[in-house]
Amino acid sequence: MRFDIFSLFPEVFDSYLNTSILKRAQDSGALDVHTYNIRDWATDKHHTTDDTPYGGGGGMVMKPEPLFAAIETVLGDPPPCPVILLTPQGRRFNQDIAFELANHDRLALLCGRYESVDERIRQHLVTDSISIGDYVLTGGELPALVLVDAVTRLLPGVLGDPDAAMDDSHATGLLEYPHYTRPPEFRNWTIPDVLLSGNHAEIDRWRRQEALRRTLNLRPDLLETADLQEDDIAYLKSLGYTPKNS
Ligand code: ADE
Repeated sequence: MRFDIFSLFPEVFDSYLNTSILKRAQDSGALDVHTYNIRDWATDKHHTTDDTPYGGGGGMVMKPEPLFAAIETVLGDPPPCPVILLTPQGRRFNQDIAFELANHDRLALLCGRYESVDERIRQHLVTDSISIGDYVLTGGELPALVLVDAVTRLLPGVLGDPDAAMDDSHATGLLEYPHYTRPPEFRNWTIPDVLLSGNHAEIDRWRRQEALRRTLNLRPDLLETADLQEDDIAYLKSLGYTPKNS
């Protein structure tokens, strides 16, 4: 999968992309990331990429010319892939969107800075807008890294265990069950006996129930759309849950 990332601060991507799983994904060829400095396409003496808003008011707005030039030079016109603007005004990123994006073989990411981008960029260049949550960051660079990370770990061969991404929190519609590793006792805190039982049916049942319990406690909103079986609902009811539609 190839990402073309357009930013005014492309240097911020290097250390994260050159670490751990994302580095290995690039070494194996599963991930190919190209970063570009939008400023390289600004043609005036000062390489201006932003300007004051028409109509007044505070803040600066990213100018259209360097961005159009950057994207059209790198991707061609029209671009052969989605052009995604990272902005607090986009659709809110989640695991379903990560799966959806992982189906593409190429994505262009546009990192906004300052107050916003000129509206003509949204209207005529951008094909999708994504927000990573209802809060405002100083730019789209961290959101772009979040998106690259979440999508890359879904690509075939990137995680050691091919099923790992299927059990993740959110992939199943529930939060994930608790995990433990050695030692079995630490500062007098033990681990649940069932995990040492070797009975895999019991372990699966315990994990499912713990996922349900954790989701009920921390993210009850997820239960409204999770794929729940009758015994899940019975278990949740035993914990005090009342389904919305009952
Ligand atoms: N740029 C600034 N804040 C953002 C957010 N929450 N999501 C995506 N891009 C952003």
